[in-house]
Amino acid sequence: MSERQMVGDSTERRIVLITGASRGIGAETAKVLAAGGDHVIINYREKRKRAQTIADEIGAAGGSASIAGADIADADATAAMIAEVVAEFGRLDVLVLNASGGLERDAAPDYATALNRDAQVRLVREALPHLPSGGRIVFVTSHQAHFHGRKPVPADYEPIAASKRAGEDALRAMIPELTEHGIGLNVVSGDMIDGTIIVRLLERRNPEAVSARRDHGALPTIEEFAAVVGEAASAASESGRTFYVGGQDYLTDGLGRDIPA
Ligand SMILES: NC(=O)c1ccc[n+]([C@@H]2O[C@H](COP(=O)([O-])OP(=O)(O)OC[C@H]3O[C@@H](n4cnc5c(N)ncnc54)[C@H](OP(=O)(O)O)[C@@H]3O)[C@@H](O)[C@H]2O)c1
Repeated sequence: MSERQMVGDSTERRIVLITGASRGIGAETAKVLAAGGDHVIINYREKRKRAQTIADEIGAAGGSASIAGADIADADATAAMIAEVVAEFGRLDVLVLNASGGLERDAAPDYATALNRDAQVRLVREALPHLPSGGRIVFVTSHQAHFHGRKPVPADYEPIAASKRAGEDALRAMIPELTEHGIGLNVVSGDMIDGTIIVRLLERRNPEAVSARRDHGALPTIEEFAAVVGEAASAASESGRTFYVGGQDYLTDGLGRDIPA
């Protein structure tokens, strides 16, 4: 459900909905876009207080933000969130598909696909009638997912990588339809991002996996990654572009030749 917890003034600003913005990359992306003049709607699943703190911080910095709780794996909750965004703002200019999961301890075996593919497509379908021409959709992913099938993935991340790649493929398949509506889709793919909860947990559980990535160079920070997500939300480039952050070794075939997106 979206909540009328407006901080700042949303008049004449782009209306941007960011899924999973109560922490990490989504929260930082909200700050980047709000600093650029957008009104940001911070979606969260459970952590309402955390989402409100991010909105308050944006307001204190002179930006405009509100919060919208919805488990995007729940079709009714997703529809209700979009309906409330439209009731409040009349449109949605940018949709940032950042929320992701599947590694949760109690997750059902099909949850990764339900969230990382099906929920993403459903959200785009719900938002499409309200995105004006010139609107933007950004799908946030990891190199391990984006390069799934082309580069090795650690066994415990395999189902997540496969489901996120399936989500990216399903969204890319919508490009012709989105183009007809004047809406662009961009993908942002990153290496492990330093400072995120996931990398901090992994570093404790499997330090070699993280140090192996660090051997290729410093990992990008949350701020660096969010800055590129912000860029992808505004770029007027041709639909379907992939923005890469870190992990130079993923981007060549080992012989120094670029791997096509
Ligand atoms: N971490 C990395 O190293 C890394 C690297 C490359 C790409 N990425 C990508 O960047 C994105 C964000 O990653 P992150 O590490 O910042 O994530 P994170 O710290 O795990 O944060 C997850 C966010 O998503 C929300 N969320 C989870 N399930 C949800 C659902 N069903 N419905 C709505 N919201 C949900 C959480 O809300 P609550 O707190 O309310 O539960 C939280 O705000 C993901 O797409 C990820 O694949 C991450």
